[in-house]
This record gives sequence, C-alpha cells and structure tokens, in this order.
Amino acid sequence: MKVIKTIKELREILKEARKNKTIGLVPTMGALHLGHASLIKNSTKENDFTVVSIFVNPTQFGPNEDYNKYPRTLEADSKICEELDVDVIFSPSPDEMYADQNESTFVCPAYSDINKLCGKSRPGHFDGVATVVSKLFNIVKPDRAYFGEKDAQQLFIIKKMVRDLNFDIEIVPCPIIREKDGLALSSRNTYLNQENRKRALKLSKALFTIKEMSQKGIKNAEQLVDTALSILENEDVEYFEILDLNKFEKIDTISNESIALCAVKFPQENGTVRLIDNIKL
Ligand code: PAF
Repeated sequence: MKVIKTIKELREILKEARKNKTIGLVPTMGALHLGHASLIKNSTKENDFTVVSIFVNPTQFGPNEDYNKYPRTLEADSKICEELDVDVIFSPSPDEMYADQNESTFVCPAYSDINKLCGKSRPGHFDGVATVVSKLFNIVKPDRAYFGEKDAQQLFIIKKMVRDLNFDIEIVPCPIIREKDGLALSSRNTYLNQENRKRALKLSKALFTIKEMSQKGIKNAEQLVDTALSILENEDVEYFEILDLNKFEKIDTISNESIALCAVKFPQENGTVRLIDNIKL
C-alpha cells in the first residue's frame, strides 16, 4: 500500500490501474473507525483497486468550528488501511488541494435543501463538501464512491450533485455502524467526556424508540418528534426532524420512505461537541 501526497503522483498510479481495473474511492477526513472500515470493505469487495482519501478539508469548516482540533492520525489510519487491503491512501496537504482557499472555484449546491438541518447551522459547509468531493472525483475518477448513511444530508447532496453535474460515478451508500450501546460511530465521539458519552446515548434511544412506535402503527410525524424530544429533554437539540427520504422534505404522515434525523450539541470544558444521527422509519 502506498501513501501518496501529490495529485501528480496519484494520477500516474491511477493511469496504470485504470487500464484494466475498476476503482473504488472512499473519501474520509481520517481518524478512521469501524464505520470507515465498513466503507473500505465494501470498496475492496466491489472494485479491483481502492483509494482512501484522508484529507481534513478546511473549506467545509466554519470559522468557529473544530478544523484545528480535528483528530489527525495518519499513522494509525495507515495501519487500518493496510490491514483492509487498500491500494493507495491519498493524503494531500491543504495547499496541494487548494491553490487559494478563498479565491477559488467552488461547487455550491443551489437549492433549498442546503439551508435546512446541518446546512442551517453550518453555512457554507455543504459548499465545502461538494467542492472537495468534486475535486476528489476529478482527481481519482473512480467507478464507485462510498459514503456513510450517518451523514444523510451529505449523502443526499452528493447523490444530487452527481446527477446534476453528470459525474459518471456510482454512489454507494453504506449503513450506519453503531457501538454496542447504540451510539453511532463518529470521529467526533473521541471528543466526548465521560458524562456526555453517556448522555449521547439519548440520540439513538430517541431514534430507536420512534422507529419502534412507527412499526407499531403510529404514523403521525408530530407525535413521533414530540416523543423523541421528550427523550432528549434537557439536551441542546439543534434539530429533530422527520423527512421524506427521497425528497428531503418535511412530512406529516410517515411511510416506508421516511427518515428521522437529529443533531444535538454537548457543551463541555474543551468546547461543544455536536453529534448527528438518523434512522430510516
Ligand atoms: O464525510 C466526510 O468525512 C467528509 O465530509 C468528506 C465526504 C470526506 C468530504 O471532506
């Protein structure tokens, strides 16, 4: 397995690989956990050649967000990738990816879904995501790219971007991986102090509870959201919403095509930890 830092070198390697191999791309920001491992396993199973990109993308972080403290663990990540038979890690510097982060060409999704949920509290976030993912698609030119369903809005936006901009790439969504106690895996879980680690369980508890209610026949979205919010009482809930999975629009009555999504903030001594989670109903 090779760790490549420059676009030029990566392109050289991929030119050869592309001749007779299918290429899978797993875009990540590193601090790899079992959630990433499942994306990588899907890619190595379905493709001849797997590239894992590890890049903490500055343009998707707001000015007061955790860009500087985001965990950077390339050595440990490399071991995981090696064990999972990854062919290449692409780990560029910010300067390699952006000649100038401000004076640059950006891919800015221009539709209303961008301003809801995470987009509402993180202005510019999805412009940064769409831009870096487009750049990675253009650099790697994969046949398939793998994204976790935990970032449901990101996945929705990337699928739409691929359709809208005619990228010839199959987007493969991969299910959320959870700790045994229900917490959805996230690189940001490592920030949580002991007390908030326990409180964070309320996210999955709220989601599992309303899924069970919906399976028992309760289809009223407002009632389900109220139940979830009562479980999350005393927590700083940024949003808890039930949407249509395909249109990402609010619904009154749930169906098999519905998704409940939430973001909750946990203030602590070293800064606020913001967690997201979701479940298909
Ligand atoms: O989901 C992530 O880790 C990031 O948003 C992504 C897709 C790697 C883009 O930086």
